[in-house]
Amino acid sequence: MNEQAIKVVIDLGSSRTRVTIAEIGSNHSYFEVLGCGIAAGSAVKAGIVTNISAATAAIRQAVAIAEQEAGVKINSAIVSISGQHILGVNSDGQAHIRNRRIRNNDIVHAVMRARNLAHKGGQTLLHVLEQQFIVDGHKGITDPKGMTADELEARVHVISARSAAVDNLSQCVREAGIEIEQIVYAGLASAYAASSTDERELGVCTVDLGAGTADIMLWLHNQPMHAATLPIGGEQISSEIATALRTPRSAAETLKCRYGALRNKYSQQHRIPLPSTGHLPDRQLAGNDMVELLATCYQNHFTHINKELHRVGLRKMLDGGIIFTGGAAQIPGLAEAAGEHFECPVRVFIPPPIEGLPEHLQRDAGMVTTLGLFYLQQVPLSDYVWAKEENDGIIQNVTNFLKRYLSP
Ligand SMILES: Nc1ncnc2c1ncn2[C@@H]1O[C@H](COP(=O)(O)OP(=O)(O)OP(=O)(O)O)[C@@H](O)[C@H]1O
Ligand SMILES: [Mg+2]
Repeated sequence: MNEQAIKVVIDLGSSRTRVTIAEIGSNHSYFEVLGCGIAAGSAVKAGIVTNISAATAAIRQAVAIAEQEAGVKINSAIVSISGQHILGVNSDGQAHIRNRRIRNNDIVHAVMRARNLAHKGGQTLLHVLEQQFIVDGHKGITDPKGMTADELEARVHVISARSAAVDNLSQCVREAGIEIEQIVYAGLASAYAASSTDERELGVCTVDLGAGTADIMLWLHNQPMHAATLPIGGEQISSEIATALRTPRSAAETLKCRYGALRNKYSQQHRIPLPSTGHLPDRQLAGNDMVELLATCYQNHFTHINKELHRVGLRKMLDGGIIFTGGAAQIPGLAEAAGEHFECPVRVFIPPPIEGLPEHLQRDAGMVTTLGLFYLQQVPLSDYVWAKEENDGIIQNVTNFLKRYLSP
């Protein structure tokens, strides 16, 4: 894409529905937000639509705001998906070449085998991401086309989502009058926005810690190695604070965002006003007690994430460290607290200033998925299928990867 194009992305988060319209050019050449509509509401919990009509209404509302701001009418959009049902699987597929040159068809055949092996019933394929090719045992081949060989192996990372969750999300978007161009795993988009090529080469884990989900994406040698979503986030932390302090849930949310930190930042005497439930009089809370409570809540989240990294055996491979992003990563002191917990470098990604984005959304880590969805349009990964296959097995909606091999 050399020309500028108008693209629309929808991020259905657990705390907000975000619809953003932007004009973009290829290769990060140009990027300007024309309109951004945000609808509050929680018709999505931990990535799952919990109320179709409410989610549809939220999308409609956000679309209307974005359209008005941008002065354009939206027909279609790229949509993010998240949830515990997201499955990331490494897979490989072979093609027998028998001492001749590798053709496009061989590559497609090997990749399709890898993809089919990883495709589980009840799951809808979102992405088949290229890792590497192995030609006669030689690893790290990026493009095997034209090489003479006996055997070709394709290694890919396959990301899928539960079909029912995809259908429900699609229904909401379509009922809001928007056609779906592509469904993208939110964690992939966030990871793409938050990490650099150098970090992905060294080995890095990105964690988009939102309201209801922690979207995890792991890379090593610039290859996507693992995708998963844990049902943890800022909402759970606010609920735990509300219970521990016997304060209304909304007050806990406000206290957390206004006074919260993971490192002591208050003097011994500092007191925070603490609303009570019912008609009981308001109380006061020592600032340091608030910090201690939050630190415990976040430690629990870190433990879950650490377990996931150990489970997939990639915990020791993160020389590039861990990058936290998403709304709940904005709490002061997170990088230090997480660094101690994970015993590796940790940084927090806050989006850079974005041309055209309203002031109150600038530098909001909750916008990271939206940003990543646009970046993925500008500089696509070697990702080749989100679409369903036609009956005869030919892919309907071929994207970057296959285009490379299927076009003449
Ligand atoms: N300064 C802050 N300190 C702590 N938490 C914060 C802060 N600012 C926002 N949050 C939390 O971030 C969460 C919202 O994050 P985000 O906007 O990334 O979620 P989302 O994209 O709607 O949800 P998800 O991606 O989980 O579906 C809320 O739980 C909110 O309490
Ligand atoms: Mg999110």
